[in-house]
Order: sequence, then structure tokens, then C-alpha cells
Amino acid sequence: MAQPSASQAPASSPRHVAIIMDGNGRWAKQRGRPRTFGHAEGVEALRRTVEAAGELGVQYLTVFGFSTENWRRPAEEVSALFDLLRLYVARDLDKLVNEGVRVRVIGERKGLQPDIAEIIENAEAKSRQNDKLNLIIAFNYGGQDEIARAARRLVADVAAGKIRTEDINPDTFGAYLDTAGWPPPDLLIRTSNEYRLSNFMLWQAAYTELVFTDTLWPDFDKRALESAIAEYNKRERRFGGTEPVAS
Ligand code: IPE
Ligand code: IPE
Ligand code: MG
Repeated sequence: MAQPSASQAPASSPRHVAIIMDGNGRWAKQRGRPRTFGHAEGVEALRRTVEAAGELGVQYLTVFGFSTENWRRPAEEVSALFDLLRLYVARDLDKLVNEGVRVRVIGERKGLQPDIAEIIENAEAKSRQNDKLNLIIAFNYGGQDEIARAARRLVADVAAGKIRTEDINPDTFGAYLDTAGWPPPDLLIRTSNEYRLSNFMLWQAAYTELVFTDTLWPDFDKRALESAIAEYNKRERRFGGTEPVAS
């Protein structure tokens, strides 16, 4: 019997796919180009992936764009990454809005340049009526930072008498996270042959299926997404129980 081709649509798509888009620097290095060239090509991969996620019926796509630890990079690289966010939104926002994509950004907003904060708010406001695909961009995001910020707000609410200490549990705590109200990722993909979370979705990934690929992010495309989803569809999710749970 013929092998199904990798481009065939998988049986079903996970509701929430999260991606650690890694390997831009190495991709550029292989070509003797500066790291920023890899980041620019990474934006093209992001555009392809958003399109593909919509076509495959994914409802939430979370992408890691800039971590709270990425400030350790040279200032020129940090500045290039911020410029690419500006460029991506300027170039694609209208198209995303027309295609039914709702854009949200998670991460620490304080300390971002005012124009970046404005761009983010505008993208969220302009797309808020959409619900075909939720594109969640993690920018200046760190899982530990997110949990610490949530704890700070929670403590303030306890002090204000809005929530009782004994009512704090994973559900009520989750409502203080940047991802409040969204389902956790079903599938998390990390590209570039690295096997770690790098502070991404620490709380939310408790029962996420992890798929690692050696594809460098600028080479990622619909076929790569389909192949990760096919791998996901082979997994048995038990959530601590003994029987597989349909997801
Ligand atoms: C991922 O590519 C993009 C960001 C972290 C912003 P890298 O820049 O980390 O590329 P490598 O890992 O050095 O190849
Ligand atoms: C994770 O990649 C951050 C993003 C993809 C935005 P890194 O390249 O920063 O992760 P480490 O440093 O290799 O763990
Ligand atoms: Mg990296």
C-alpha cells in the first residue's frame, strides 16, 4: 500500500499548538550570513505557519518570539528582533484581520518601548472580533516571569478581599496568568534540535505533548507542521489516568 504523503491533511488537528521557533541564528550561520538574516527568514516561516495553522483548523497558535532571557543578546540583535515585530504587524495585520485571525500578545509589557506597546494594543483591538484562529505571540515572555506577575496580582486581590487564600487552586491561579481563559497547548513543537522549554509555558505545558524536530525555524513550513501533528496524533494522552483520553 502506498505510504500517505506528508502533505496529506492529518486525521485531526490539535486545538492549541505552541511553537518555540528556534534555530534562526544557526540557519544564517550555515549560509555565512548575519544572525539577523536568519531572524528575517524566520518571519517568513511564521507567515507560512500561521497560514497553514488556519488551513489545518488549529484554533490557537502560540509562538515564542522573544524571551525575557533574550535581553542577554547583543543590543543590535535585540533591536533587530523588535524591528521585525514592527515589520510583521505593519505588513500582515490587515491581512490577518481579514482572514479572521485574532492577535494577542503575552508577556511583560512594562519596559517595552512605547511604540511597541502601542502596536500590540492596536493589533489586539483591531482583531478582537475575530475567532477563526487565535494567534498568540509570546513577546518579552518568560514562564517564571508570568507566574511571578500572576502571584503579585493574586496577592493584591487577597489583600483587597477579592479572593480568599483557601480558594487558591490551579484553576483560580490560572485565571491570573496571561493565558487566562484559553485551553493549554495540546502540542508543543520546538525546532532546531534543542530539547528544552527555555522558560516557555511552564504552567500551561503540564500535560502538553512535546515534539522536537531538527528543522531550523526558517525552513519550517506547512509540511513540517503536518508532520508534527501526525506525530501528535500517534500519542496516547492519559493525563495521569490509566486510559487514553480523547483530545
Ligand atoms: C530563535 O532563533 C529566535 C529567537 C530566539 C528570537 P535563535 O536566534 O535562537 O537561533 P539559534 O538558536 O542561535 O540558532
Ligand atoms: C527560546 O530560544 C526563545 C525563543 C524562541 C524566542 P532560545 O534560543 O533563546 O533558547 P536557549 O537560549 O537556546 O535555551
Ligand atoms: Mg536559539
